[in-house]
Amino acid sequence: MTSKHIYVLNGPNLNRLGKREPGIYGSQTLEDIGALLTKRAQALGCTVEMRQSNHEGHLVDWLHEAEDKGAHAVLLNAGAFTHTSIALLDAIRAITAPVIEVHLSNPHTREHFRHQSWVGQAAKGTIAGFGANSYLLALEAAATL
Ligand code: DQA
Repeated sequence: MTSKHIYVLNGPNLNRLGKREPGIYGSQTLEDIGALLTKRAQALGCTVEMRQSNHEGHLVDWLHEAEDKGAHAVLLNAGAFTHTSIALLDAIRAITAPVIEVHLSNPHTREHFRHQSWVGQAAKGTIAGFGANSYLLALEAAATL
């Protein structure tokens, strides 16, 4: 792989962005965010691979795939699996590609159950609370790794 290829993995309910609790998550769809990322990636000399699944195992498989395909980094918004999934924690620990945890909202200002992040225990870093811009900031961070 010649240019820096960055996987952008999205977990449950993020396919509903734009309609889902817009007061918290904004009005942009995941497709809108994907288009913004593709454009910014071009400027940064990267390529992005955007995926979404409501199924935990798909995210585990895609983390392994990112490693096997030589991805430069992974941006991971695991949605609610962030707060529940030891399998995702183990998958991040099982790969060497750096994983950046991303959230549209800031989970620490929300319900107590969102304060625990299993993903964050293995992530290189976390960007949260900036809406769609969290993804762009994470991409910039990933590009400079
Ligand atoms: C989220 C925050 C999570 O707590 C929540 O379960 C989501 C979205 C975010 O991007 O702000 O689904 O990951």
